[in-house]
Amino acid sequence: MAKIELQNIAHSYNPQAADKAYALNPFNMTWVDGGRYAILGPSGCGKTTMLNIMSGIVQPSEGKLLFNDVDVTKLSTSERNIAQVFQFPVIYGTMSVEQNLAFPLVCRNFEKAVIVAKVQEVAGALSLEGLLKKSASKLTADQKQLISLGRGLVRDDVAAVLMDEPLTVIDPDLKFRLRRQLKEINQKYRSTLIYVTHDQNEAMTFAENIIVMDAGSIVQVGSPSELFERPKTTFVGYFIGAPAMNFFECKLEGSHNVSFGGASIITETDLSKTGEATLKLGIRSEYIRIVETAGINTIKAQVQRVEDLGTHKLVSAIFDNQNVKIKVKRDQEVPLDSVSLEFPARHCCVYEKEQLI
Ligand SMILES: Nc1ncnc2c1ncn2[C@@H]1O[C@H](COP(=O)(O)OP(=O)(O)O)[C@@H](O)[C@H]1O
Ligand SMILES: [Mg+2]
Repeated sequence: MAKIELQNIAHSYNPQAADKAYALNPFNMTWVDGGRYAILGPSGCGKTTMLNIMSGIVQPSEGKLLFNDVDVTKLSTSERNIAQVFQFPVIYGTMSVEQNLAFPLVCRNFEKAVIVAKVQEVAGALSLEGLLKKSASKLTADQKQLISLGRGLVRDDVAAVLMDEPLTVIDPDLKFRLRRQLKEINQKYRSTLIYVTHDQNEAMTFAENIIVMDAGSIVQVGSPSELFERPKTTFVGYFIGAPAMNFFECKLEGSHNVSFGGASIITETDLSKTGEATLKLGIRSEYIRIVETAGINTIKAQVQRVEDLGTHKLVSAIFDNQNVKIKVKRDQEVPLDSVSLEFPARHCCVYEKEQLI
């Protein structure tokens, strides 16, 4: 396993073009040895490009890659010693399941006893024991992808295991179980695991650290709770959490205050250096409280709809022509009427030009 550093890496698939559009804008990133990461972002934001640069499938147009402080930028895929699992199964149809799983070890001349033990272990973790003698070509799409996953995990001498949306073709129940298993495998072997997904739920339940990307750039690196509590940009606030963070157009009012729709909201953010008069206030629907009486940091909103979602209720209200979503306990009564909503100061995030202040 290795510490992996990306230094001033950038990539354009068309570097000769007059306006060489970057698929990845210049960035720096260090992946700690043994860490469990998710790269999260919408389709086309550059996730696969980043993985392929690490494994060597793509040569970056700019920058350097270091594995344990050694420059590997010019090394081939096999010389980098990375295991990569792709979105769709890559298997050898002429081989049995067992031979498929053993293949990465056979290629590197591991001893027979080690190969047998490792194949058994991985087959056990992925519940493939019953299929070992079967021809890989006879498997379902789910099973084929499990073999691909198994091949990615069979070696524990790799610098990192990279997985590019590996559970796309797997059914939801099995997905949940596999995600847990991957987590356990990472905890057991402390393998550096980098997992690409466009599904925030998958990223939040799987990773210790999440790299959120948007349009070719890393917008935030943080733990699931950091991304939830203090999204660095409004994009992260929208992208993480269900429902998305509430955002309100507001005006700068004082060193810690903003106002909108006639309501004044105190925050814990120092706004004294803020140049912009127009800001955005962000607050999670989990933190807005429905209170009996209007007071400090309250607004009077009109409830439009209350949905019972089993574990909680989701209240949709409107204030100053802006939508507000509030999550409340299942047993809380909510009138279809006007209600006072409290915004606790410590949960208020203030954004200037879409960036957290
Ligand atoms: N081989 C390629 N040639 C040209 N453009 C590409 C190629 N692969 C990806 N791109 C472009 O680079 C951008 C990032 O793509 P990609 O890394 O595949 O994103 P993601 O995996 O997040 O969906 C997209 O605009 C995509 O169209
Ligand atoms: Mg991709």
